[in-house]
Amino acid sequence: MDLIVARGRDDLVKARRAGTVALVPTMGALHEGHRSLIRQARVRADQVVVSIFVNPLQFGPNEDFSRYPRTFDADLEVCREEGVDVVFHPAADDLYAADRQVSVSAGEMGRVVEGAFRPGHFDGVLTIVLKLFNLVQPDLAVFGQKDAQQLALIRRMVADLDLPIEILGAPTVREPDGLALSSRNRYLSDGDRQVAVTLSRALRAGAARFTPAEIRQTARAVLDEAGPGLDLDYLALVDPATFAEVSEGYEGLAVLAVAAKVGSTRLIDNVTLTLN
Ligand code: PAJ
Repeated sequence: MDLIVARGRDDLVKARRAGTVALVPTMGALHEGHRSLIRQARVRADQVVVSIFVNPLQFGPNEDFSRYPRTFDADLEVCREEGVDVVFHPAADDLYAADRQVSVSAGEMGRVVEGAFRPGHFDGVLTIVLKLFNLVQPDLAVFGQKDAQQLALIRRMVADLDLPIEILGAPTVREPDGLALSSRNRYLSDGDRQVAVTLSRALRAGAARFTPAEIRQTARAVLDEAGPGLDLDYLALVDPATFAEVSEGYEGLAVLAVAAKVGSTRLIDNVTLTLN
């Protein structure tokens, strides 16, 4: 079957076949990380829908919405190679009415860590993801652990709003030196690229320690070595269910998350570790 490009709800309804449907939401500029999500979807469902939509609602006024990479033809080729059935590629005007009123609030969990640096970002993410769920009506949806707070918030939305959709988390795909793949990596200069690897190095060093204080200190020391080329937004050690900072004595899974600007490019990364 040839790849179907759907622009709106009618196209999606026409493309729907019997069996289970998996949705992989993306903003395009597809790379190996996206491919791994698509492969997970492919083994789990009869029909795979990939959405490609750069969602204006989740970008702040001073963020990179207009310069976010748009590579639709190459993305279609990736989807063909990966055996995707339907690419959903709506126009912003069709999704968001000029007089729209109602949106999803990510609550307190949307205002901490990444949310503290990107006010409104997670409200915008949850609003588009809920709209995509309603349009595509998938049985399951796949998201990357690379955006750990986003994944956690989507799980919360599904739980809190009783959405009948299974959420699968997929591990972060990395370059051989550890840098997490990201659509934004293409903006790194050669110098930036060398500095950027510090993020994953710091997370690995921190994750090898045993107490919250040691973990934070060790990761912080690695980040400090990078010098002024790395402008740290946060380093956080949090409870994966709430994204609240963990204190000394905490036991169980924790997420060590980092965000920094390298040159003019803002990068995020995280690792999951166990404290006991
Ligand atoms: P985007 O940044 O395009 O990412 C789409 C999906 O790919 C997300 O679930 C993200 O976590 C995952 N991903 C990105 N880099 C990855 C990597 N290196 N390894 C594994 N998975 C990776 O996240 C968004 O788009 C948007 O916020 C979206 C959910 C589509 C809503 O607009």
